Amino acid sequence: MNLAVIRAAFAAFAAVSVPASVTAQSDDIPFAQQPLARPGQSTDASLLSLGDVMTLAQMRHIKLWYAAKSGNWGLASYSVDKIRESLFKAAMLYVNIPVELIKTVDAPLTSMKEAAGRKDFKAFSSAYSELTVACNMCHVAGNVGFIRIQTPSASPFSDQAYVNDQKK
Ligand code: HEC
Repeated sequence: MNLAVIRAAFAAFAAVSVPASVTAQSDDIPFAQQPLARPGQSTDASLLSLGDVMTLAQMRHIKLWYAAKSGNWGLASYSVDKIRESLFKAAMLYVNIPVELIKTVDAPLTSMKEAAGRKDFKAFSSAYSELTVACNMCHVAGNVGFIRIQTPSASPFSDQAYVNDQKK
C-alpha cells in the first residue's frame, strides 16, 4: 500500500468533507495545528486532537508488541492495521505533517504485516524497533522530542488476554 497516495486521497477528501476545525492549538508544535476554518464554516472543536490520535497509537503500539510476543499473530496483524488507521487519521486532520514522515512509519508497518503472516517473531521484532525509531523521529521533527517511545516492558491492559486459545 502506498501511503503517499492514500494520504493525498485523504487530503482531497478532507478538503471537501472534514468540518472546519478549531484554530491552531499550539504555536510550538507545528503538526498539532489543524487546518484553519474556511470562510462560511464554523469551527468544530469536537475533532480529535493530534494528542488523542497519538494516545490511541500508543495503546496499539503496546498491544502489538504483546500480541506478537504471545504468538497471537491475528491480533498482531489487526494491531498493525489499527496503528495505520491512527496515523492516517493524523495525516487527514493535520495537514502540516510532512508526507515523508508518514512514509517512514509505513515501511515497518508493512514488514510487520508480512512477518505476522509468516509467524516470524525475529523479523517482526526488528520491524517493531524500526517503527519505534520512526515514531521518535517524527516527535523530534514535530518539536515534541521529549515524547520518547520504547519497546514496552509491561502491558497496562490486564483485561485483555494476549495468548489466543481460540481457533480464530
Ligand atoms: C507524523 C509524525 C508522528 C508520527 C509518525 C508519530 N507521532 Fe506521536 N506525536 C506527534 C506529534 C506532533 C505529537 C504532539 C501532539 C500534540 O501534543 O498535539 C505526538 C504525540 C504523541 C504522544 C503523546 C500523546 C499524549 O497526549 O500524551 C504519544 C504517546 C505518541 N505521540 C505516540 C506515538 C507512537 C507510539 C507512534 C508510532 C507508532 C507515533 N507517536 C508516531 C507526531 C508523530
